[in-house]
Amino acid sequence: MKNSKNILVTGGAGYIGSHACKALSRAGYTPVAYDNLIFGHRAAVKWGPLVEADIADREKLDHALSAYRPLAVMHFAAFAYVGESVENPGKYYRNNVAGSLCLLEALRDHGIGRIIFSSTCATYGVPETVPLKEDHPQRPINPYGYSKTVIEQMLKDFDAAHGMRFICLRYFNAAGADPEGELGEDHDPETHLIPLVLGAAAGKKERLTIFGDDYDTPDGTCIRDYIHVEDLARAHVLGLKALESGAPSSIYNLGNGKGFSVKQVLDAALEITGRKIPVQLGPRRPGDSPCLVGDSRKIIRELGWRPRLNSLDKIIETSWRWHQHHPEGF
Ligand code: UFG
Repeated sequence: MKNSKNILVTGGAGYIGSHACKALSRAGYTPVAYDNLIFGHRAAVKWGPLVEADIADREKLDHALSAYRPLAVMHFAAFAYVGESVENPGKYYRNNVAGSLCLLEALRDHGIGRIIFSSTCATYGVPETVPLKEDHPQRPINPYGYSKTVIEQMLKDFDAAHGMRFICLRYFNAAGADPEGELGEDHDPETHLIPLVLGAAAGKKERLTIFGDDYDTPDGTCIRDYIHVEDLARAHVLGLKALESGAPSSIYNLGNGKGFSVKQVLDAALEITGRKIPVQLGPRRPGDSPCLVGDSRKIIRELGWRPRLNSLDKIIETSWRWHQHHPEGF
């Protein structure tokens, strides 16, 4: 089981984590998925072993870390429903913050000093300037965003105290599916725009509700920066290589730097699917920012990240293919 190329991937059976496992395997590493399978899928673990356990379970963590001796950890495991985090903040602080603390302490005690962390643009809150740069103030507006902000701080403190180096990646809107069709987005419940639009196109969902068309944007609907999950996954491998070659801890945005409105996403989906997409207008969703677009020039400059699937069409096409071949998910 001990292999100098083992990487522990918490949340490795989830949407972004499973794509990262595939990217790791392609780059010559062995991903060890560590997932409690609350939201993850056993069938998404295809490139290495699965340890079915929770990050808050110190005993199981100790066992996995001793057995696999990973050279680094990619940490995806988290709850990520913004609305739920507002209603039940304790669940988010317990799972995301306390769970990550347990993981960091275990890494410290096992002498594992490299971690790549899955953070989010939700740590910025309402943007003062767009596109957002990494030094934009972090003022999250919901407990989910706060939980990720606290974990970022813990990473800085563990680095200062224990020399545990980290790469923190703040994603904008992850979307799309594995272009080879082996993986895709399968959330239950699903709250993200693109899979919901495609669900409506496929007739699985009666209609899509547009959450507000009275924002201060050109067509009145919210603008987001969609990034292909495979481009995200490759950025994690670049982060890992940087840490392996001794790079200091860093924080990077990951987006495409281009914003698309809800209506633009609908138009593109209409074109790609050739299906009717029934739509209704609803009220604004609490906590939605009118416009979130990221400036990712830092990771392009420092780690040589080059997004390959950086068009909205590619994102929707790969997602649509996955939906058509896996109408019930995994
Ligand atoms: N939207 C709709 N109708 C829907 C679903 C979404 O109009 O049925 C709109 C939203 O209002 C938003 C846009 O589509 O303007 C995108 O919404 P998503 O739910 O797909 O994504 P978010 O921008 O809300 O979420 C992203 C990340 C989260 C992160 C959050 C921070 O996916 O992980 O940003 O706000 F927490």
